[in-house]
Amino acid sequence: MFKAEVYTKRRTRLHGIMKTGLALFPGNSEAPMNYPANTYHFRQDSDFLYFFGLDLPGFAGLMDFDSGKDWIFGNDADMDDIIWMGPQPSVRELAAKCGITNTAPISKLEEKVKDAISKRRKVHFLPPYRGENKMILGSLLNENPCKIKTLASVNLIKAVISMRSIKEKVEIEEIEKAVDIAYDMHVTAMKMCRQGTSEQDIFGAIEGIALAKGGGTAFPIILSVNGQTLHNHAHGNILKKGRMMVTDAGAETNLHYSSDITRTTPVGGKFNQKQKEIYEIVLKANTEAIKSTGPGKSNRDIHLMACRIIAAGMKDIGMMKGDVEEAVVKGAHALFMPHGLGHMMGLDVHDMEALGENYIGYSDDVERSDQFGLAFLRFALPYKPGHVFTIEPGCYFIPELINQWKSEGKFKEFINYSMIDKYMSIGGIRIEDNVLITEKGHKVLGKPIPKTVKEVEAVCS
Ligand code: GLY
Repeated sequence: MFKAEVYTKRRTRLHGIMKTGLALFPGNSEAPMNYPANTYHFRQDSDFLYFFGLDLPGFAGLMDFDSGKDWIFGNDADMDDIIWMGPQPSVRELAAKCGITNTAPISKLEEKVKDAISKRRKVHFLPPYRGENKMILGSLLNENPCKIKTLASVNLIKAVISMRSIKEKVEIEEIEKAVDIAYDMHVTAMKMCRQGTSEQDIFGAIEGIALAKGGGTAFPIILSVNGQTLHNHAHGNILKKGRMMVTDAGAETNLHYSSDITRTTPVGGKFNQKQKEIYEIVLKANTEAIKSTGPGKSNRDIHLMACRIIAAGMKDIGMMKGDVEEAVVKGAHALFMPHGLGHMMGLDVHDMEALGENYIGYSDDVERSDQFGLAFLRFALPYKPGHVFTIEPGCYFIPELINQWKSEGKFKEFINYSMIDKYMSIGGIRIEDNVLITEKGHKVLGKPIPKTVKEVEAVCS
């Protein structure tokens, strides 16, 4: 945990924004895997972590904006717990670690909430994403658990987003630690990327690094020679020369801050001509996009700039044609880059996504596009100092999408379909870094991870 003052300060700020009512923050509970006592790796709710810091199942936090009091609800360990889990700190001791003196058993939470409801006080809560917390909120608030998400407090959502979006110094230090763990994961993957090695071997080795050096991976590792499938979690292939391996992997620190890095490595460690051509295009989109980030610039503008770089590069090698600007405005480039440039990152790898993507990345003035490709941009607003983003352009050869567009003659004025066949074995290439927006510009976080052709080939050799 951070020092107690960090959590106290955050809660004080939220009190200042919300002013009235109560906010209820149910922490996560253990989630059974195949029978109740055999549980998944425990992951605390990120909003609970942000305001209360306690990384244990079975707690709830409550802030009373009228009285100014904060509460931790939870049960002290009984003898059965101690026999199986060892001695545990009391709820009072745990609450003190996040600067809270008011504690009560979890059974008292219902009393507190029912009392507030009877007095017609507003009970704010964030959208729950786990079944158990939907049931708990439904029961406490006397609402249908299946619909409870729709009743979440928009004021609380916006207040929390305004705070969590701007990273504190201690948070940036954590994210840099997470990127440094990712450095070890990615360099290991590059070194193992050899003909005859199995994807599963590499996946296991780098997952082990995330567990050995931090809190495990920030999301299920994407590692495949079929990088054209954007979130490929199958690791069943044996590496063969001529293919490229996409590794999209990041770690959590022990305090659960994330990294999210992608590198693409040619099997055997040497790029062939075609691989190099496409790699250099994606690399240029990555480095130019990073160079252009800074306060006031919008992520949508930088996304479109990266798309123009991809389209211009594809035109240079003859795979696209016509006016680059027009091709991007119309969305023709999305055949090759059908996703957004990146997303916010912090306690969640897609930071705060549970609170609603449009609350985070869009506003009354900036609406989400419904154009294929651009519709997947998670954040379109201007950057502010303290924002942490991924910058992750890519170029993919997705057979099903190419065949569909080709058969429809879609964008044939911009795409040379006859050229694509020669590049299909590349699969996909994505290059991703994690960037902090500063007062003056930006900073790429963590130890630089090899990414130029020369650097990747040097590591692999
Ligand atoms: N790195 C995985 C994702 O951004 O979805």
